[in-house]
Parts: sequence; C-alpha cells; structure tokens
Amino acid sequence: MYLPKIFLLLLSSHLVLALVTLDTIRDLTSLTDECRDRITDEGDVIQLPGTPQVHLGSGQEDGGEIEDNITYALRILCSELFIALETPLSPPISSASSSQAVECQMVIEEYHAFLGATVQFLHEIQERQMKWRWDAQSGVRDELSWLQSLWASRSSNTQDRSFIEQQMKMYAETGCFGTSNEVLRRDVEIVEYINDLIDLFG
Ligand SMILES: *[C@@H]1O[C@H](CO)[C@@H](O)[C@H](O)[C@H]1NC(C)=O
Repeated sequence: MYLPKIFLLLLSSHLVLALVTLDTIRDLTSLTDECRDRITDEGDVIQLPGTPQVHLGSGQEDGGEIEDNITYALRILCSELFIALETPLSPPISSASSSQAVECQMVIEEYHAFLGATVQFLHEIQERQMKWRWDAQSGVRDELSWLQSLWASRSSNTQDRSFIEQQMKMYAETGCFGTSNEVLRRDVEIVEYINDLIDLFG
C-alpha cells in the first residue's frame, strides 16, 4: 500500500497522537464493567425485610439466554474497540496536548483498572462456560475470537492496528512505564487468557 511520505514521518515521530488514548482506556473500562454487569445480573432481586433474598426467575435458568446475553455483551465491547482501531489517523492538531504533564500514578492505576475489569469480565464468562459447556458453534466463541484478533492481530481492521500495539505506543508516549515492558507482558497475558477461554469451547 502506498503511504504518502508525511504519514511515514508521522508514524515514526513522537508527535504522533496515539489513536488509542487514555480516554479510550477509561471508556473501555466502564464499558467492560457494564458488560460484566449485563451478564451477572440474572434477574431482579427482591429483598424484603427479615427474609432471605428472593431471585425472580431463579430455578429456571436458561443456558440459551445466558449464552445470548454473553454474546451480545462481548459484541458491544468488540464493536467499541473495533471503532477505536478503525478510526483513521489524523495529524496532531497541536503538540500542546502531548507535552502536557502526565500524572503517571493515575495513568498506571487506570491501566491496571482496565486490566482488572477485563479479567473480571472474562472470568465471569469462563464460569458460565464451565457450567453450560457451549460448543465450538457458540456465538460466545465467535465473539471471543473477534476480541482476541482485535487485541493481537493487525488484520482485524482496515487500519492494520492491533490493540496491543496501540496501547504500547500510547503508554510509551506517557513515559510512565519507563523501560519496562509491563504493558506488552500484561497485554499478552490477557490474550493468553482469551485463548484459553476459546479452547474451552467444543
Ligand atoms: C439477559 O438479558 C436481559 C436483558 O438485559 C435480562 O433481562 C435477562 O435477565 C438476561 N438473562 C439472563 C439469563 O441473564
């Protein structure tokens, strides 16, 4: 593919605005939490004073509906991630934003919160898969495969970007992780977790 020279310069320069931003990570963290809630809220809970909790609809759990809900929640998450990765690269508007002092403690905490939310969501899916044993044709597996490719593969979007690379680039620009390869290492752990989950199907 032909790339105008200006793009090549931008790509190799520190001025490039990472496409995935700290805001993206923040948004994805709350979205991931919402997606987790979506699959863990199994019916309304009524609490009457002095009585044990009563779950509406308990005792008639429907594996198919749970499967649909997980598929849907994963699709919502993947769609957002896909949109972020599909967004064409735009030249930086001003360099002011990139020279802004970065609160490293906050950046690192937010990164860990994002990973934590992701692991929790995946864990909820894992527990349900252990219980219901959906097979390789499951929509859940399809969406997990999509999530895996968005994280790890460049070919899952038209801009040739993997989410891991985007995060590495963005966090490198903050300087908050020094020379450690923590972001790569932890991100790869997430992908390994997704791979292990995919292996549970079929
Ligand atoms: C599936 O999602 C719907 C809509 O959010 C919800 O009302 C329903 O309780 C969920 N079903 C299960 C089994 O979690």
